[in-house]
Amino acid sequence: MRVNVAGVELRSPVIAASGTFGYGVEFDEIVSLDRIGAFVTKGLSREPMQGNPTPRIIETAAGMMNAIGLQNMGVRAFVEEKLPKLRQMKGAVVIANIFGYTVEDCLEVIHILNDAEGIAMYELNASCPNTSHGGIAFGVDPGLLNELVSRTRGAAHRPLMVKLSPNVTSIAQMARVAADAGADAVSLVNTFVSLAIDIETRRPRIANVTGGLSGPAIKPIAVRMVYDVARAVKIPIVGMGGIVRAEDAIEFMMAGATAVQVGTASYADPRAVENIANGMRKWCASHHVEHVSSLTGSMG
Ligand SMILES: Cc1cc2nc3c(=O)[nH]c(=O)nc-3n(C[C@H](O)[C@H](O)[C@H](O)COP(=O)(O)O)c2cc1C
Repeated sequence: MRVNVAGVELRSPVIAASGTFGYGVEFDEIVSLDRIGAFVTKGLSREPMQGNPTPRIIETAAGMMNAIGLQNMGVRAFVEEKLPKLRQMKGAVVIANIFGYTVEDCLEVIHILNDAEGIAMYELNASCPNTSHGGIAFGVDPGLLNELVSRTRGAAHRPLMVKLSPNVTSIAQMARVAADAGADAVSLVNTFVSLAIDIETRRPRIANVTGGLSGPAIKPIAVRMVYDVARAVKIPIVGMGGIVRAEDAIEFMMAGATAVQVGTASYADPRAVENIANGMRKWCASHHVEHVSSLTGSMG
């Protein structure tokens, strides 16, 4: 079940996705962190953030919408309060998700994390708005994405995975920009910008008006995007979007992913990451697949 993503060895290809698994330690009594492939922290910023007003999460027909607004404790508090506990959990593979409203903010987060032990890799969230450029997200503008990735890559002492926004016309083009700027891997997809209206009050159901759609509704679009990116870049791809069952994860791998992440499914079942990995192991055994890594890009 082992896979290697940009030099980081994972005991299984199933990773808990950012924003749905806290800082890892909260899941300690439910999930053994040393048994899952890895987990990604909630997005970390230079300063603590309170996030958006509520309501900021709603359920949809086949998933959920959220506009948490990147609430987090800030990178320094993470290093001081959470990382020491994570280091005690021997074998837990920690991927730090980072973001900033300017390139400089991101660089500062990276500098602080570089000095801390116990992190295997960085995941750079490119869906964050760039406040120096009128709030346009880094990940939807090739020039901004190139600058963000090349400068972050220059500063990072660990492998850098760039998490791409799906809210673009060509995600393959953005993946190429990230790869050319030095990304060691790409992960996709983040959530899709969406809107739900309460027709009685004629008000948006989320206080922020729009939110990010995740869960099973987005899976076929996400699988298609992984397939497009796999034909555009040579670096490893970590795929996600609506994975609930082992079969979903296998589909992503066949489309070209080296590993996968599971987000929304952890809300329904906090053991989803572990269960999906176990299901993949069984599927591989019953289909005479010796190494799960051989599934990557195997769609005929
Ligand atoms: C409540 C919530 C919070 C999230 N927070 C983050 C975040 O801080 N950083 C990030 O890169 N992605 C964040 N995501 C996106 C997920 O990591 C993932 O890309 C997306 O939900 C698609 O996967 P899924 O359908 O399995 O949930 C968040 C998703 C949800 C549902």
